[in-house]
Amino acid sequence: MLLRTENLSKHFGGLRAVDGIDFELEEGEVRGLIGPNGSGKSTFFNLVSGIYRPDEGSRIRIGGQDTTHFEPHRIAALGVARTFQLLRVFSEMTVLENLLVGHHLHVAYGPVAAVLGTRRMRNEERRVREEMMELLAFIGLADFAAMLASELSVGQRRLLALGRAMAMRPRLLMLDEPAAGLSPVNVDNLLRIIVGLKERYGLTVIIVEHILRVVMDTCEKVTVLDHGQKIAEGTPDEVKTDHAVIEAYLGREMEDDEVRRVLQG
Ligand SMILES: Nc1ncnc2c1ncn2[C@@H]1O[C@H](COP(=O)(O)OP(=O)(O)OP(=O)(O)O)[C@@H](O)[C@H]1O
Ligand SMILES: [Mg+2]
Repeated sequence: MLLRTENLSKHFGGLRAVDGIDFELEEGEVRGLIGPNGSGKSTFFNLVSGIYRPDEGSRIRIGGQDTTHFEPHRIAALGVARTFQLLRVFSEMTVLENLLVGHHLHVAYGPVAAVLGTRRMRNEERRVREEMMELLAFIGLADFAAMLASELSVGQRRLLALGRAMAMRPRLLMLDEPAAGLSPVNVDNLLRIIVGLKERYGLTVIIVEHILRVVMDTCEKVTVLDHGQKIAEGTPDEVKTDHAVIEAYLGREMEDDEVRRVLQG
């Protein structure tokens, strides 16, 4: 088990944003996490990645360690990387530099590296650049490597944010709405990339996404939240026809054509 939460809870004043969630994720899984607006998906990510402190009685285990009270950097050091719902890229850096920064966050360059000498470091630098270029090719941004991130389209910046998280070589990658603002063509591109995350990099992934097609087409298993609680879990076909799920979306996001198409066949 790579990630397990027990009774995971977080309240803000009287609001139970995440309310007693038991969640288990196997190594190598690509899991979808869906639910209407405000159902607690991003809060769940913020709890697992240590940004929010869980309520008393919550438990989080990552790779066998109890991380319930870990600070974000200790969780990142365990190989957990995430993207944010609101875009975060360094717009004054080039596309390649954005990935290099992500990678350097992962690698500690201590005094030992300095002692090893400059040639060794230059070789290492070259190897890392090649690896990052390969990663850029994988996410379809190789041609833009030398461009400033600020010159990219919104869709391309989303892909770059994903590339930056991957540059940290995580074991667990948490994606918060990776398809938001992407054109239909870029959504297809993203679907291909997500499948590749598992097949080529063997990553364990959790995807929060409102564009349900992304989750339904790429995840073996989907967890559904509503009002901070887990209301369903199963294969895409199981959750699509689940009464509690349809109920939760009814009158809230059913006006969204895409959601209606997926949930009502
Ligand atoms: N820092 C905070 N302070 C107060 N309330 C918060 C905070 N973060 C989240 N909430 C509230 O917790 C609830 C769950 O929010 P969350 O962002 O987790 O939902 P979500 O499922 O990610 O929604 P969306 O699909 O709109 O991104 C919401 O009612 C939200 O307003
Ligand atoms: Mg959210």
